[in-house]
Amino acid sequence: MRLAAAGDLHVKKTSQGALQPLLAPVNDHADVLLLCGDLTDYGLREEAAILAKELNAAVRIPVVAVLGNHDYESGQQEEVCRILTDAGVKILDGEAYEIGGVGIAGAKGFSGGFGRATLGAWGEQATKHYVQEAIDEALKLEGALARLRTRQRIALLHYSPIRGTVEGEPLEIFPYLGTSRLEEPLNRHPVDVVFHGHAHHGAPEGRTAAGTPVYNVAMPLLLQRYPDRPPFRVVELPEAPPSETEAALLNARQTASSKRPPIVEKPAGSSDRH
Ligand SMILES: [Fe+2]
Ligand SMILES: [Fe+2]
Repeated sequence: MRLAAAGDLHVKKTSQGALQPLLAPVNDHADVLLLCGDLTDYGLREEAAILAKELNAAVRIPVVAVLGNHDYESGQQEEVCRILTDAGVKILDGEAYEIGGVGIAGAKGFSGGFGRATLGAWGEQATKHYVQEAIDEALKLEGALARLRTRQRIALLHYSPIRGTVEGEPLEIFPYLGTSRLEEPLNRHPVDVVFHGHAHHGAPEGRTAAGTPVYNVAMPLLLQRYPDRPPFRVVELPEAPPSETEAALLNARQTASSKRPPIVEKPAGSSDRH
């Protein structure tokens, strides 16, 4: 299964035709396209309609997405969702989704800082509300991860769950680019890979404390860092080895078939075609 991921498309009212040449190569490179939020620039229904048209014109593989902070800017996020859903995009907001044997847990996430500098729910009510939003998004991610039943699993976010992939941005804005609160569920429910966006000037690759690869796929970052490549990251998940139960079943089936009478080969010239 080949996964292509990109975030931060920031589609504007003037973007018609601009995205198609960037996205069209994805059909040859991947089996599914994952979009990591900031799909629109101001979260306007007009922008969502343009993105829907661009995707319909350029992308022939399934598209799975989460929203980003920009998609909330105008309070039209539900309409943005509806327009994109009508165009065939699967939007995840704390849900688990399975495609081609790969489980995807998707949530927007939120900010709040990393490690020991993670903002705590203490003091003013406004601070507690802010922190609660991060906790709620982490719980959404955790709920989605807990529902995945596939052996191959990925997480789709807008905000970064680790500090490593926001490095390169000004240090002063690190706390607004993501939060370690999103990493905790990823350490409890391991995935093969995590994709996020939002940090347009961050680092393209990092790892969680448990060693899971994390890719920042913000399109402006990919365009700047890899100007000769299409602006999405492709990750191929190898066929997972069968679980112990599946291996036992397979062995039992092979043993049973070896006891059956051998298949008699037909003489050349005979045919089963009708
Ligand atoms: Fe963005
Ligand atoms: Fe963003």
